Amino acid sequence: MTIKNITILGSGIMGHGIAQVSAMAGYKVFLRDIEQKFLDKAMEKIKWSLQKLSEKNKITANEVDTIYSSITPVVDLRAATSNTDLVIEAVPEDFKLKEKVYNELNGMVQDDVIFASNTSTLPITELSKLTTRPQNFIGVHFFNPPQLMKLVEVIPGTQTNPKVVEELTHYVQSLNKHPVICQKDVSGFIVNRIFIPLVHEALFSLDRDRVSMDVIDSAVKFKLDFPMGIFELADYTGLDVVYKASYEMNLRDKNVLLMHPKIKELYDNNQLGQKTGKGFYEYKDNNYERVNLTQEKSSQYDPLSILGVAANNAAWLIENKVCTLEDLNTALKLGMGLKTEIFELVKNLNTSQVINRLREIEMQQGSFYRPNKYLENIK
Ligand code: 3HC
Repeated sequence: MTIKNITILGSGIMGHGIAQVSAMAGYKVFLRDIEQKFLDKAMEKIKWSLQKLSEKNKITANEVDTIYSSITPVVDLRAATSNTDLVIEAVPEDFKLKEKVYNELNGMVQDDVIFASNTSTLPITELSKLTTRPQNFIGVHFFNPPQLMKLVEVIPGTQTNPKVVEELTHYVQSLNKHPVICQKDVSGFIVNRIFIPLVHEALFSLDRDRVSMDVIDSAVKFKLDFPMGIFELADYTGLDVVYKASYEMNLRDKNVLLMHPKIKELYDNNQLGQKTGKGFYEYKDNNYERVNLTQEKSSQYDPLSILGVAANNAAWLIENKVCTLEDLNTALKLGMGLKTEIFELVKNLNTSQVINRLREIEMQQGSFYRPNKYLENIK
């Protein structure tokens, strides 16, 4: 089947971005949400982003209009799916909500239409069982902001037809993005298995080491060469996304992260980061705002445990054959903007120091911090 028309369910940060990049690749897009006001906001964001890309000569002024008008915002689910070849679900990360959405879709959309979920963490096989088409069900996981990040993780479930994997891989390539196949349907897939636990670890570092958030973030940015600090990235991603992803991952796999209570506290207080004007930091601008991180502040902190936790989870992915080392490096480069490969960073910060720091924390906080054997071979 050739994909021409695409329906995106959910017009939040990810949904509107996926709609935009699909329209930019020439697809006709139906963007669906439950209320018109969400769609209005999403279309405003799409316009802002297209104008930004046009300012930077990535697209022409004419293309701004053509792309914008190939996206139809729609509240009625039947109208959004009546003439579609691919449905991409990007509703909030809540299993019950996704179950409700798939129940509605099952009777409405023919079984040969592919369903893809942009879930951040929920196992694809588990989600596929909520549908009438597990063989036509797959994970396509984009990264925020989808307009700029080149990575898309493609996650087949145990029943996904190999032809569907091929078709979705083509779709991702047609967006000028780089697909990485996640070989095992594990909680958090590849990148979130590393990113989400880091938000918790940044908070534990704050408690343990008594330095400020912007000092930790500056060290992550300038010593580890990440494009953003961890608190900054969590605010940018949304603390609702971070909380829900943490909850769902922790429910299924107790080894992947150590929960810090602050995330739930911020979520409960609706301090969700940039989108609500306050999260770890405060913000004025709704579209795109950066935290002031400096080289000078970075000199006050060595982010050994942050790198250690990331490297431990990276080692787990390799050990469990979720991806190859090459795919891991590509995923972290294109999905999180890492400029240096993760195990190179361990080497640069001194492998023994990273391992020793993990061992020290293991004595205080338990086996979550036990250094993976893989790290001992990094020389
Ligand atoms: N569309 C178009 N332009 C955009 C944009 C968008 N959606 N968002 C930002 N921009 C623009 C900015 O306005 C800015 O324009 P300006 O130059 O006119 O000010 C420009 O892009 C970015 O410039 P900066 O110098 O501020 O930024 P960087 O060079 O650092 O690049 C970045 C920005 C690509 C976001 C980079 O900081 C980065 O890679 N950050 C990490 C992002 C990341 O890790 N994402 C993944 C999170 S995990 C996830 O999404 C999975 C989920 O399941 C949880």
